[in-house]
Amino acid sequence: MESFEQLCQRRRSIRKYTDRPVEQEKIDYMLRCALMSPSAKRTCPWEFIVTHDEAKLRPLAGCRTYGSQMFNTAKAAIIIALDPTLCDNTWMADGAIAAEHILLAAAEQGIGACWCHVYEREGAPELTRTLFGIPEDKVVLCAIALGYPDEDRSSYDLSRLKYEKIHNEQW
Ligand SMILES: Cc1cc2nc3c(=O)[nH]c(=O)nc-3n(C[C@H](O)[C@H](O)[C@H](O)COP(=O)(O)O)c2cc1C
Repeated sequence: MESFEQLCQRRRSIRKYTDRPVEQEKIDYMLRCALMSPSAKRTCPWEFIVTHDEAKLRPLAGCRTYGSQMFNTAKAAIIIALDPTLCDNTWMADGAIAAEHILLAAAEQGIGACWCHVYEREGAPELTRTLFGIPEDKVVLCAIALGYPDEDRSSYDLSRLKYEKIHNEQW
């Protein structure tokens, strides 16, 4: 059985997807994992919008001039929006943890995924808000593109990790 470390090694951002649809059960699994993510004071400030609709996915590819091309082939997406009034400056951390649970749960199930940053990126928040009817009082953090991988990405090499980032006892 794959260990958690092996899953972390294997998870890479996948930006090209085949035509095979992503099963709703696999997305439900990712969402259950997201709903179990930690949040400050258990405020759970996140909301998850799921789409399989290509009429919404394809316009997302143009939400930014660069960095959103994965939506040209994505078969599904989970958009993460948050209520910033529920927590004290922790909404982005809470949203990022939920997103990472989704990314790892996708990889575990053989689904390619990639975070597309929306928050404060060109017109991305406005487009996403319009496409999915997200209320003005919520912040849109990211849209996670999903699909069966149509590209090979190599796993992380444990011998080449940035171990110099680790400080023992003192900087
Ligand atoms: C906060 C955050 C924002 C990101 N935004 C984008 C993005 O807008 N477009 C994109 O293609 N990838 C985006 N990524 C994916 C990163 O580029 C990717 O995680 C990084 O290059 C490491 O590659 P890996 O995920 O394959 O390990 C983002 C990742 C994070 C954590």
